[in-house]
Amino acid sequence: MASLIDHKKIERNVTLLGALALVTVAIGGIVEIAPLFWIDSTIEKVEGMRPYTPLEQTGRDIYVREGCYNCHSQMIRPFRDEVERYGHYSLAAESMYDHPFQWGSKRTGPDLARVGGRYSDEWHVQHLKEPRSVVGESIMPAYGFLANRELDTRDAAQRLTALSRLGVPYSKVDIEKAARDMLDQATPGADTEDLARRYPKAQSRDFDGDPSKVTEMDALVAYLQMLGTLVDHRAAAPQETPR
Ligand code: HEC
Repeated sequence: MASLIDHKKIERNVTLLGALALVTVAIGGIVEIAPLFWIDSTIEKVEGMRPYTPLEQTGRDIYVREGCYNCHSQMIRPFRDEVERYGHYSLAAESMYDHPFQWGSKRTGPDLARVGGRYSDEWHVQHLKEPRSVVGESIMPAYGFLANRELDTRDAAQRLTALSRLGVPYSKVDIEKAARDMLDQATPGADTEDLARRYPKAQSRDFDGDPSKVTEMDALVAYLQMLGTLVDHRAAAPQETPR
């Protein structure tokens, strides 16, 4: 009973109540915020994550330029319906090299975080040129012009330099070879051994069905085809098991 009567004092004295509330909230705040000053990163490392190849990164820049994010997110939340439809929920480390990130829940179209490998290159090209020719009821706009625009490699090295300033671990060699790498990855028959060593799991081929030139379509399809393919998410320790 004594404690209840004491509490009455607090409730009737607004200054005391305010002061004690502040102390209580400050304790909670310190417990949550203080550890961030001593740990290097809040992202758990996962096996397989690497920076984007210059071609994938350019595809990503085109994705952002064209506003694909207005209809597509790249973040699978740990909900049963999402995990069943899109696959293992997204891990923080999977977007650690993303500038800008593509999280969100605005989904006029499906989430694309794990779309890589789900369709053929031909499907993607056809879908981007004429969405309604493959998905009858689609409301997605057409992006056929990308197949006519040759890739501009002049600023390839600068793009990687800018990203490395933001903490993406591109090596000197990666930056020097950026323009060459960009073209090689989409040119059939090019020597991509060194590229594959520096960027494990990089897929090299003609992506847009036109081997005569390397286009923005090549870059965008290369990007779509690698989304979600780097990390073996079955090996990631599940925080909870969706049932
Ligand atoms: C106006 C909204 C809108 C925009 C903008 C848009 N999309 Fe879509 N997208 C959709 C819808 C709706 C679907 C589902 C129907 C379909 O497959 O066409 C879709 C489907 C897709 C799919 C198939 C996904 C799957 O799992 O079946 C891919 C890949 C895709 N879009 C890529 C893109 C890319 C790349 C861009 C930008 C160049 C883009 N979208 C821009 C609405 C949009």
